[in-house]
Amino acid sequence: MKSKIWGGRFRGATDAVLEAINVSVDFDKRLGPQDVKGSLAHVAMLAETGVVTRQDAAAITRGLEQIRGEIENGTFAYSRALEDIHMNVEARLAELIGPVAGRLHAARSRNDQVATDFKLFVRDSIDGLDEQLADLQLALAEKALAEAGSAMPGFTHLQSAQPVTFGHHLLAYVEMIGRDRGRLKDARARLDECPLGAAALAGTSFPIDRVMTAKALGFSRPTANSLDSVSDRDFVLETLAAAVICATHLSRFAEEIVLWTTPQFGFVALSDKFTTGSSIMPQKRNPDAAELVRGKTGRIVGALAALLMVMKGLPLAYSKDMQEDKEGAFDALDSLSLCVAAVAGMTRDMNVDRARMRKAAGCGYATATDLADWLVRALALPFREAHQITGRIVAIAAERGVALEKLPLSDMQRVEPRITGEAFSVLSVEKSVRSRTSYGGAAPANVRKQARRWLRQLRKEQG
Ligand code: ARG
Repeated sequence: MKSKIWGGRFRGATDAVLEAINVSVDFDKRLGPQDVKGSLAHVAMLAETGVVTRQDAAAITRGLEQIRGEIENGTFAYSRALEDIHMNVEARLAELIGPVAGRLHAARSRNDQVATDFKLFVRDSIDGLDEQLADLQLALAEKALAEAGSAMPGFTHLQSAQPVTFGHHLLAYVEMIGRDRGRLKDARARLDECPLGAAALAGTSFPIDRVMTAKALGFSRPTANSLDSVSDRDFVLETLAAAVICATHLSRFAEEIVLWTTPQFGFVALSDKFTTGSSIMPQKRNPDAAELVRGKTGRIVGALAALLMVMKGLPLAYSKDMQEDKEGAFDALDSLSLCVAAVAGMTRDMNVDRARMRKAAGCGYATATDLADWLVRALALPFREAHQITGRIVAIAAERGVALEKLPLSDMQRVEPRITGEAFSVLSVEKSVRSRTSYGGAAPANVRKQARRWLRQLRKEQG
């Protein structure tokens, strides 16, 4: 058995169960590129400050560069006996360059190392997600512009409420995702401090230059408190919280896709690219990708909840509990990335049945509010009174089983004698939708303007 890097004061071997519970390289090997990057920055600084000689630093740098290559091309041999990625890299460095490898770990610890590695990883994940989310916004805004005039039922309580347009509905998600991106950006700005050099928990007596390593790793500055540097994972929590909210938005859209693609709704259809079949029912066309976007939200939420539980009782500074921060975060960020791609794919793929949507938009007395509004405008009634009158008219129409616009004027006049034929002019779906011109409203002209605004902004971002 390989002797432990930390084994100086130990005599006996570790129990197999301890090894099993302690090992993290199976998952933290994902931090390999970040670990090497951090070590390269660290050794360059150690040379600059005279903590190691230029000659030793050069040997260490060469060794690390070889290791980076081995990790990239998949030839690096990970050893579970070496516990984690940090000790795997260090042990390999010793194999490559001999005892001088041991000089790399001056003025640092695995505690500041892992915090730095993970921050670098989370930062990259945020950047990747942001790019994907911008693409999703683009897909939604393009579709929204094309469907700016397509009437669809707007729902509250999933009951027909008022007609809107499909473009307006899609732009609602563009707004949500815009805020999701803002939250990720905020998280990125707050994690912009480098923990490297905090060492185990107290800092170090070596004359290190933490500003130099921070800059080399793309951070604006070093963290200001060594205890905080190694003991907090709020940068993961905050990113996961933003991820959870984003996933929740995607899940709601996914749920709507599931509804809309049913034969009962039939508002949109997904092509064979985004549809699966059933092994028993030959007629089935299932929106699996949408269902899985909805489903995966559970594990993303789970990752946040799990890490909050891990952290909530930990005294300062580092505790090994914190090794549990990685798997859930990796999984959540991977899952979210997949969900964003799936939703963008489905958005581009979906085919809208405008006629069917238009027909549904007129169902369920969806223009009753327009009649009430007319009563306010034409007869100067208080809205509450207009609401009562319209309600009674709807009740009569429902009794007869006819739409509002099919109810004879005389029936309306039995409820309110001053109603004129002009009232019918507001009852069509098109009129209703076109009248929603208040800022942020569903009118096609508004939707076009908003869609174009987003498209301009998104295309400018893309450069
Ligand atoms: N694998 C560890 C983790 O992920 C690295 C830090 C270990 N530190 C220690 N003092 N044992 O948290």
